[in-house]
Amino acid sequence: MVRVGSTEHRRFEKISCAEGFTFRDPENQQAMHSSIGPSSEAELIFLAPSRIRERLAEATSVPLVLWDVGMGIAGNSAPVWELALHGEECRRPIEIHSFEKHPEALAQAVEDPVAFPFLTRQERSLRSLLDHGTTRIRVNGIDHQWQLHSGDFHELLRGSEHRIPPADLIYWDFYSPKVCPEHWSLELFRLVRDRAPRSLLYTYSAATPVRVALLLAGFSVGLPFSGDRATPIKAESTMAAADWRDGAEIPRLLDQAWLEKLSRSTQFRPYGKSYWATEPGYPEIAAEIAACRQFIVQVSP
Ligand SMILES: C[S@@+](CC[C@H](N)C(=O)[O-])C[C@H]1O[C@@H](n2cnc3c(N)ncnc32)[C@H](O)[C@@H]1O
Repeated sequence: MVRVGSTEHRRFEKISCAEGFTFRDPENQQAMHSSIGPSSEAELIFLAPSRIRERLAEATSVPLVLWDVGMGIAGNSAPVWELALHGEECRRPIEIHSFEKHPEALAQAVEDPVAFPFLTRQERSLRSLLDHGTTRIRVNGIDHQWQLHSGDFHELLRGSEHRIPPADLIYWDFYSPKVCPEHWSLELFRLVRDRAPRSLLYTYSAATPVRVALLLAGFSVGLPFSGDRATPIKAESTMAAADWRDGAEIPRLLDQAWLEKLSRSTQFRPYGKSYWATEPGYPEIAAEIAACRQFIVQVSP
C-alpha cells in the first residue's frame, strides 16, 4: 500500500487555516478543508450532525458502518476512530470504510505531526491503515475496524470484487461540485442509494444542483440542524436519507420555500450526463422534483 516516508507520491501543498494547516491539491488548486480547519469542519459538518456519539453509545453488537468518501488526511474519519479508541461512551462496534484516490496525502500528513497534531494519537492505526489497507482494534471487548479502499470511488463502488457493506452513515467530502461535478452527479447518487439503501448522507455542500441530484436519485433531502448556521463561514450544509422512512431523522426537510427558491435559480439541473442533466427545461424538472415524496407527504419528526 502507501509507505509513510516515501517521497515519490508527495504532491500536496501545505496551506494555513485557522487550526494550523490543511493541504491544497496542486492538480485542481482545491483546499481539502475550508479556512476553519479540519477538526472544526469535521465536527460541524459531519460528526455532530450525524449524532455519531449517540449512535456509538447504543448497546448493540451490530456494527455502525460509516463510508468516509474522500478520506483526504482523515480529517473526518480520524475523530470517529478516536471515539472508538478513547470514547468511554462507545458501546457499539464501528466499521469505517474510507475511499481515497490519493492516500499519499494521509501518509504525508502523518509524517508531519507539527502541522497535523490531531493525527498523532492514532499514528499506529494510521500507519497500519496505509501499509495494509486495514486496521483493527479491540477496546473494552468491542472490535472496531477501519478499511481503506484506495482508488477511484466510482469504480470501487461499481466493482464487484470489493465487498463493501452498505453504509449506515456516509460522509460525502469530495472537492467542490463546481470544480469536480462528476463526484456530485445524479448517476453517482443513484448508485450510492442502490448500494446503501438505508444510509444517511452528510455533506458540506448546499448547492442547488447537488440537492436536485439527491432528490432525483430518490433521497429525502434537508438540513441536518435547526440552528442558524452550519459553520462560522457557511450558512447551510446538507443531509439526505436514502429511504423515505428515515426522512424523519432530518431536522429540516427542504420544503415549499426551497421549491420557490429553485424556481428563481438558473442552476436547476443536476450534475452528470443523465437525461435530467441535459434534456428537460425547468418546468419538467420542477414537476419531477415537486412530485418527490417529501413535498407531498408530511413526514412527522
Ligand atoms: C475535500 S478532500 C477530502 C478531505 C477529507 N475528508 C479530510 O477531512 O481530510 C477530497 C478528497 O477526495 C479525493 N478524491 C478525489 N477524487 C476521488 C475519487 N474519484 N475517488 C476517491 N477519492 C477521490 C481527493 O484526493 C481528496 O483527498
